[in-house]
Amino acid sequence: MHHSSAVVGSRSMRAIQIERTGGPEVMKPAEVSPRDPGPGEVRVRHHACGVNFIDTYHRTGLYPVAFPCVLGVEAAGVVEAVGAGVTHVAVGDRVGYAAPSPGSYAEARTLPATPVVRLPDMLDAPRAAAVMLKGLTVQYLLRRTRPQRDLEVGDFILWHAAAGGVGQIACQWAKALGLRLIGTAGTDDKCQLALKAGAAFAINYRSDDVVARVKEITGGRGVPVVYDSVGKDTWERSLDCLEPRGLMVSFGNASGPVPPVALGQLAQKGSLHVTRPTLSTHLQDGHGRDTAQQMADEMFALIADAKLVIDAPRTYPLDAAAQAHRDLEGRATTGALVLIP
Ligand SMILES: NC(=O)c1ccc[n+]([C@@H]2O[C@H](COP(=O)([O-])OP(=O)(O)OC[C@H]3O[C@@H](n4cnc5c(N)ncnc54)[C@H](OP(=O)(O)O)[C@@H]3O)[C@@H](O)[C@H]2O)c1
Repeated sequence: MHHSSAVVGSRSMRAIQIERTGGPEVMKPAEVSPRDPGPGEVRVRHHACGVNFIDTYHRTGLYPVAFPCVLGVEAAGVVEAVGAGVTHVAVGDRVGYAAPSPGSYAEARTLPATPVVRLPDMLDAPRAAAVMLKGLTVQYLLRRTRPQRDLEVGDFILWHAAAGGVGQIACQWAKALGLRLIGTAGTDDKCQLALKAGAAFAINYRSDDVVARVKEITGGRGVPVVYDSVGKDTWERSLDCLEPRGLMVSFGNASGPVPPVALGQLAQKGSLHVTRPTLSTHLQDGHGRDTAQQMADEMFALIADAKLVIDAPRTYPLDAAAQAHRDLEGRATTGALVLIP
């Protein structure tokens, strides 16, 4: 099943695999063999595996993968073996990572060492698995994905799905930067969670008029930037919340992908800018070899200062990964979800 020549003894490990695209029912427990790391690779023994919305895109085929495919792109654990040329982590180190390709819903994984970072002692494995991908995403969005005019302390930003995994980190991080985050969420309880996390305002986007509320909050001007991971359902409203020459950051498709855009729309709505960024690009195109560690260290410093508080995430046994997907896609969750192998 696993196409590898460098199998470690006869040991096998448990993983959650798909052999075709579909609903959560295509996710099946499987036994696979962990590979010895080649040059530039490490093998990490997982203590917690993060669940992310991107895992559902891999499962449904929205983002194509090769089969069989072990899902998951994020985990925390301990380095078990390192390949030639790996110097920034060593056997026994506590580490976490957000990887560019799937393979993490498993007891262990061999992967390129570049995105693997050392964890501070204060962060246990479940919380590390809750914050690696989601926190690094907030880092590059708030710190490196900015409108043309510089954001100033007190500026408003609009952030959709503010009570979700990425969203609750964004509420806290924006507050730490002095930005006034207007969060949206699908229920009043979720709005309360966003406010508790640091949002300055919260709008229930299922019951309230988001554009009218944003105009009211910003004195009619709109916001300089919208961070939109909901996609299809919010695209139009997001554009209408922007100030002239504002930036639309479309970074996800929780409600489905944004249909093809008529560029003229950006002219009509006020010389708008649009970007469609990914964490992978930012991890590969940063400050050189240490990009992941530098981005993570900025996040760990916020955690150490208690400006970013990472609650113990909702956990599921590894074998219940399909239920985690049902809950995430069913909008039944808040904060991060983590699988425990
Ligand atoms: N581009 C990148 O680099 C990058 C990296 C990480 C994550 N992302 C994106 O960021 C988003 C958040 O990821 P996450 O893992 O933290 O998930 P999450 O925010 O915890 O869950 C997604 C949330 O989206 C909202 N939503 C709105 N319409 C929905 C619909 N039709 N179906 C399901 N959910 C809907 C729900 O909140 P309400 O009930 O409040 O509406 C739901 O809880 C995802 O879209 C993900 O793809 C992008």
